[in-house]
Amino acid sequence: MNQISVIGAGLMGSQIALCAAFAGFKVHLYDVDEQRLQTSQQQLAKQMANYIKRGLFSQEQFDQANDNLILETSLSTAVEHADLVIEAIVEDLALKRNLFQQLDELAPPHAILATNSSMIVSSMLASSTTRPDQVCNIHFFNPVFLMAVVEVVKGAHTSNETAQAAVDFVTRIHKTPLLLQKEITGFIANRILTKVMEEAMFLLEEGVATVEEIDLACTKALNHPIGPFALMDLTGLDTAYAIQKTQFELEEDAKAPSPLLKEKLAHGQLGRKTGQGFYTYQ
Ligand code: NAI
Repeated sequence: MNQISVIGAGLMGSQIALCAAFAGFKVHLYDVDEQRLQTSQQQLAKQMANYIKRGLFSQEQFDQANDNLILETSLSTAVEHADLVIEAIVEDLALKRNLFQQLDELAPPHAILATNSSMIVSSMLASSTTRPDQVCNIHFFNPVFLMAVVEVVKGAHTSNETAQAAVDFVTRIHKTPLLLQKEITGFIANRILTKVMEEAMFLLEEGVATVEEIDLACTKALNHPIGPFALMDLTGLDTAYAIQKTQFELEEDAKAPSPLLKEKLAHGQLGRKTGQGFYTYQ
């Protein structure tokens, strides 16, 4: 496996692409929105400057990784030589199914098609391709460079070879693969996380405690590295909403997204990326 294509240059796709480029893969990064491709570069440079300052990486490593990263404005060029395609577009089942159908037509027959979706199991996407045995979930966590674990989910349709290749890829980018042998919406971490977020939202809506107090309970009483509201701001409240909505649509006993979250979206408050979410950012 040498050539990786990442589809979607948003928060996750841009970091996944650079992370693979750091490990020496040739990476083609595509987004339907050309402007987004450019801004993703600026955001990555800012993030890397911070990591370099903290001594996590050297400028030379970043420069080398950048040489391995090619920005693409055509989907067919982006995937024509891919060994592995990682989809990281918005959390929307219909859009993802449509994209997987295109990827099936455009990527080489041997290429593995993986999704970084937070909730959607790959069988829901594999059925829009002619290669379901080469489809799986490879689910990263944000911030990609700092989070050590990546979930790989093997559906009943996924071949052992595909699952092994996905695990090998994760190992080659210096992450610990967590292989799930069975599909389940939200996999492991997000199933647990959505319960925490649901309860945090309930406590806030009931007026039991403030955003700051609930986050403090999680960070200082439960020793979580970040509170649920600060984490939603980091994820992006639009993405957090889309994730909760997807889970609600896919799971019988899941809760609908909180009206409070909807209200924030209506006011354009998307978290860190807009400077305002549950917290205010400079
Ligand atoms: P984002 O909103 O930052 O980026 C999504 C990108 O997809 C945008 O740049 C958009 O222009 C692009 N896009 C939309 N439709 C497209 C298409 N048809 N072809 C190509 N590009 C297209 O979203 P984010 O946060 O990067 O999430 C992406 C995926 O990763 C979602 O499925 C999400 O559930 C998942 N995820 C998100 C995490 C997070 O913390 N934000 C963590 C782990 C997974």
